[in-house]
Amino acid sequence: MKVLIATEKPFSKVAVDGIKVVTDAAGYELALLEKYTEKKQLLDAVADVDALIIRSDKVDAEVLDAAKQLKIVVRAGAGYDNIDLAAATAHNVVAMNTPGQNANSVAELVFGLLVYGVRNFFNGTSGTELLGKKLGILAFGNVGRNVARVAKGFGMEVVAYDAFCPAEAIEAAGVKAAKNQEELFETCDIVSLHIPATPETKQSINYALVGKLKKGGILVNTARKEVIDEPGLIKLMEERTDLKYLTDIKPDADAEFAEKFAGRYFATPKKMGAQTAEANVNAGIAAANQIVGFLRDGITKFQVNK
Ligand code: 3PG
Repeated sequence: MKVLIATEKPFSKVAVDGIKVVTDAAGYELALLEKYTEKKQLLDAVADVDALIIRSDKVDAEVLDAAKQLKIVVRAGAGYDNIDLAAATAHNVVAMNTPGQNANSVAELVFGLLVYGVRNFFNGTSGTELLGKKLGILAFGNVGRNVARVAKGFGMEVVAYDAFCPAEAIEAAGVKAAKNQEELFETCDIVSLHIPATPETKQSINYALVGKLKKGGILVNTARKEVIDEPGLIKLMEERTDLKYLTDIKPDADAEFAEKFAGRYFATPKKMGAQTAEANVNAGIAAANQIVGFLRDGITKFQVNK
């Protein structure tokens, strides 16, 4: 069996070494395609592989067509909006993710961005503290729960809303539940997004919703750029000069945001919520174990195209 790690944004070396330990133990061959710049490189590399480990790398019908022997693709991470699930099913390929494995890494970055934001991008002027501020968490999955845990360490008041998680479950985790996302934005100083990119959520973070934030409000996005209605957010930030937008996923209109909102907008050069050695090791090794579990024992626990 041959396993390919195809990562445009590479894992740390220690994660690749850890994956190799798992594939070696199973007697599988491991190949590596990192930092590729052309889709053609991916199409060539998948030609003879049985299993594929990816990150945000796109696996569409063309990739699946080229991967004639492929049986399983594992997205080492949470969001699998980069895999064409219907095409995977049509090609008889099992698609999986590794939920939770990089959640703490993303949650810690939220606070890196927040401290940078409330301290005025470290420009030396007097900023504000997070202590006592109200943080709204939109979607209470693995990342949202980790954000809540860290927020409590900062002494923040924490509120969450999740369309798929009942209020009782949120409150059982020691977090106040908002009735809906409107209430979350209306009542919080800061809102952190942890929703997946789905047809329902795409562009759902719009002018009207973000406009509900209190004066001096901050929107943090370590989820997906697609959930933001970019023209709506630009219009709002032009009108509301008190608002800040901090993200680790550059919007399509990055240049316009940067030009118009200097001092109120920050985007990391690359998506980096999950860019820690620990997250890479956790997600990468989980992916390798899931591949062995599936190919050897038929385990489909984390399959997302059932
Ligand atoms: C995820 O969905 O797991 C995160 O967004 C991380 O994505 P990445 O592996 O491309 O950094």
